[in-house]
Amino acid sequence: MEQLLVPMMCKIDKVIQETPDIRTYRLKFKEEGLMEKFDYKPGQFVELSLLGAGECTFCISSSVTRKGYFDCSIKRAGNVTSDIHNSLEEGDEVGIRGPFGNWFPLEELKGKNLLIVGGGIGLAPLRSLIQYCIDNRNDYKDFTILYGSRTSADLCYKEETKEWQDNKSLNVILTIDKAEETWTSNVGVVPKILEEVVKPVIENTKVITCGPPIMIKYTIQSLKKLGFADKDIITTLEMKMQCGLGKCGRCNIGSTYVCKDGPVFTNEQLKNLPDEF
Ligand SMILES: Cc1cc2nc3c(=O)[nH]c(=O)nc-3n(C[C@H](O)[C@H](O)[C@H](O)COP(=O)(O)OP(=O)(O)OC[C@H]3O[C@@H](n4cnc5c(N)ncnc54)[C@H](O)[C@@H]3O)c2cc1C
Ligand code: FES
Repeated sequence: MEQLLVPMMCKIDKVIQETPDIRTYRLKFKEEGLMEKFDYKPGQFVELSLLGAGECTFCISSSVTRKGYFDCSIKRAGNVTSDIHNSLEEGDEVGIRGPFGNWFPLEELKGKNLLIVGGGIGLAPLRSLIQYCIDNRNDYKDFTILYGSRTSADLCYKEETKEWQDNKSLNVILTIDKAEETWTSNVGVVPKILEEVVKPVIENTKVITCGPPIMIKYTIQSLKKLGFADKDIITTLEMKMQCGLGKCGRCNIGSTYVCKDGPVFTNEQLKNLPDEF
């Protein structure tokens, strides 16, 4: 099911305050039977509308393998996201169009070691992939998650990352930028911890990364230094979007439409895009 132009109404089942400026909204379609038909893959996004405020693009931050709901984790950034944070509570309604875009290459990831590298709200699309891979754990080999944020308060999904740390089949490394009195784990920016603590195996490993543009830039530099090939580095882009359908021309880089051809790209593909990226 893909709802292109007319929003489908969803009820907010739960609101989770993840960090001071990020909330996860757990959504369920109002119309009976729609939730069961809503099929999506990790990496895809929706257009979420708040009546009277506007529409914004958000990835789906949960996996289709978790039945009966889907999550959008929303960071307060500007007009619409502030209205969402200020006015939406459990029981309220929003409109949803989608799912749109491509997804992480699930078939290609099978049989590989997975290295997930996330920063801040960038863990949202990766969480969908992580949940999907945990629910199909036998399809993947070693599974490492490196996640960082500026401070410990800014780490998203605190309960869930604890569960990941307790899961013996995962190697989970958390880091924050600067030392804090009660923080006993790693300190340092994500690319530094990647090189000095994670020291990943390169052979048969796919890296999937998302975070602030500056983190992605230096993470890719570190991965290249460590010896990863461009085709084995996968990321997801955030461009200003409107239609989500490849029609309005808001998100294109040359002839590539991030909403339709992406948002998921390998570094090999990104290198072939025009310089404006
Ligand atoms: C494919 C995709 C997936 C996304 N997933 C998420 C998600 O899971 N969670 C989340 O919180 N946000 C996500 N975003 C970003 C989100 O769409 C923007 O933060 C939101 O549209 C801002 O709307 P606003 O009206 O509150 O801000 P505005 O008032 O429009 O802008 C406020 C500030 O944010 C900047 N901004 C606006 N849109 C974007 C954007 N797309 N990328 C970067 N900066 C932007 C503006 O330049 C301005 O500086 C995603 C974007 C894309 C394209
Ligand atoms: S968002 Fe309209 S063309 Fe991509």
